[in-house]
Amino acid sequence: MKILDKINAPVSKVKPYQPGRPIEDVARDFGLYPEDIVKLASNESVLGVSPKAQKALIDCIANLHRYPDAGAWELRDKLSQKMGMDTDQFIFGAGSNEILVFLAQVFLAPGKSVVASAHAFVIYKILSAMMGADFIEVPVKDGLEHDLEAMAKAIRPETALVFVCNPNNPTGTLISQEEIERFMDQVPDDILVVFDEAYAEICLGEMPDTLSFVKQGKTCIVLRTFSKAYGLAGVRIGYGMASAELISELNKPRQPFNANLAAQNMALAALDDDEFLQDSIAVYKLAKQYYEDLCDELNLEYIPSYANFILIKTGNGGDVTNKLMSLGVIVRPMQPYLLDEWIRVSFGTAEENEAFGVAIKKLRQENNV
Ligand SMILES: Cc1ncc(COP(=O)(O)O)c(C=O)c1O
Repeated sequence: MKILDKINAPVSKVKPYQPGRPIEDVARDFGLYPEDIVKLASNESVLGVSPKAQKALIDCIANLHRYPDAGAWELRDKLSQKMGMDTDQFIFGAGSNEILVFLAQVFLAPGKSVVASAHAFVIYKILSAMMGADFIEVPVKDGLEHDLEAMAKAIRPETALVFVCNPNNPTGTLISQEEIERFMDQVPDDILVVFDEAYAEICLGEMPDTLSFVKQGKTCIVLRTFSKAYGLAGVRIGYGMASAELISELNKPRQPFNANLAAQNMALAALDDDEFLQDSIAVYKLAKQYYEDLCDELNLEYIPSYANFILIKTGNGGDVTNKLMSLGVIVRPMQPYLLDEWIRVSFGTAEENEAFGVAIKKLRQENNV
């Protein structure tokens, strides 16, 4: 097709994101019943959707012929009180992913660069490539941890964005308050530090207070999502918090109704569902223990995780993922993260985790891991 010659040059080089495979897809490919399949591939909420959010969805169904509030005022107001920020310090997106897109559209172009850790959320690399910006990937420390000192040193004059993913997907590692404070002292103030905190509310360790840097007027933005802790991945809503000046720039590429009506109402209700949040965290703690014990028993290396998933070194992650899928367990191969030997497993219910345990033991018996 001749039109393909006119694709923007950077876009033609982009390797698209590979999401976790849907249950129905795997059922078709492997001749399995969907109800026999366990999906532990996308770090989704273990307890489903917050019950308060479910009720909010039902309550707003009859209003879905209306456009949503373009400014998401009710949600903005509630979050501003909860976070101790002004209402003009928030931006909403169809998932926090959309805010990553706004950041790329506003700050990246050929001649600019991005600094991020190796083995961090792959969307940073994809968006940098899409905008033709250089992607400076900084090697990790032992234990696949972000090396913030090396990241600060990797910043160049043309660098616009530095991504700090905490806890990091897919490694599950957590950076401490002290490390982040040292890092913020080293980063020049013409660089925007993006704290991507998709797992903050369910973090299994001490989550650093990065919002304090926004409040101190440092050049940074904190991204959060309702996808993970509150189980709203399917309706798509996330938000960013930064100075009002920065937020007004990020709002320029935003389309007016990007945060949909159902999502706004469900998010509002979810914020009141602390019971759901606490119950989810309790399940994740048990799951973490289960997987660590399982790996110890099978002598498999793993990275201790502070989020709702775990990285396990099985050898040949692509092959192991396919074999697990044939046994009805969907996990995520880690080749896109240059961790070919590893798989990432999202924490499930005790029953779902047990299904993984049975499958991986079967593969061990057959000498596949
Ligand atoms: C680190 C990180 N950031 C951002 C996202 C995007 O989440 P969402 O767009 O659903 O808010 C994810 C999703 O997996 C993630 O792991």
